[in-house]
Amino acid sequence: MNLKDAIRTIPDYPKPGILFRDITTLLGSAKAFRRAIDELVQPWAGDKIDKVAGIEARGFIVGGAVAHQLSAGFVPIRKKGKLPHQTVRMAYALEYGTDEMEMHVDAVIAGERLILVDDLIATGGTAIGAVNLLRNMGANVVAACFIVDLPDLGGRQKLEALDVPVRTLTAFE
Ligand code: PRP
Ligand code: ADE
Repeated sequence: MNLKDAIRTIPDYPKPGILFRDITTLLGSAKAFRRAIDELVQPWAGDKIDKVAGIEARGFIVGGAVAHQLSAGFVPIRKKGKLPHQTVRMAYALEYGTDEMEMHVDAVIAGERLILVDDLIATGGTAIGAVNLLRNMGANVVAACFIVDLPDLGGRQKLEALDVPVRTLTAFE
């Protein structure tokens, strides 16, 4: 079974010209979902990872499963205004314009070893915002992992330039 074949492409969503890489078909396949999580965590089997940070929304699904597999805690990084306790906020670049993401101020203890998880990396704006937010709180971001890489958009290189090792399972040119 090829993980890439489990991901569906929707043309012209959410805008004309975009090929949307839809992981819901992978999530809906028990075999593909299990395989993706097993492959994502493989470098850290037996390693001590304190927490996994997942980015809203699809990063919650993948990140929650990764955290369980690594016996780690989970830190939700959310779009602004969604978290109930005191938060820290970080602006991040979107394809057009900027937005802000938040995490709880007490979600990470300085020095904790943490892996960042999302379903997909494109321009890297979202993941870079999350790395900056986590590092500002003293986290040791050990790596970032994604099921899908869109290499033409260059996000992976930008994250690696920040000294974050990147793990991806599939690429769509
Ligand atoms: C998607 C995806 C990543 C981000 C990647 O999320 O899940 O979080 O885009 O893009 P980037 O590398 O160019 O920043 P989206 O913003 O669509 O939010 P959603 O998960 O809530 O739908
Ligand atoms: N996020 C940014 N670009 C995307 C794409 N092409 N498919 C799915 N999610 C995305």
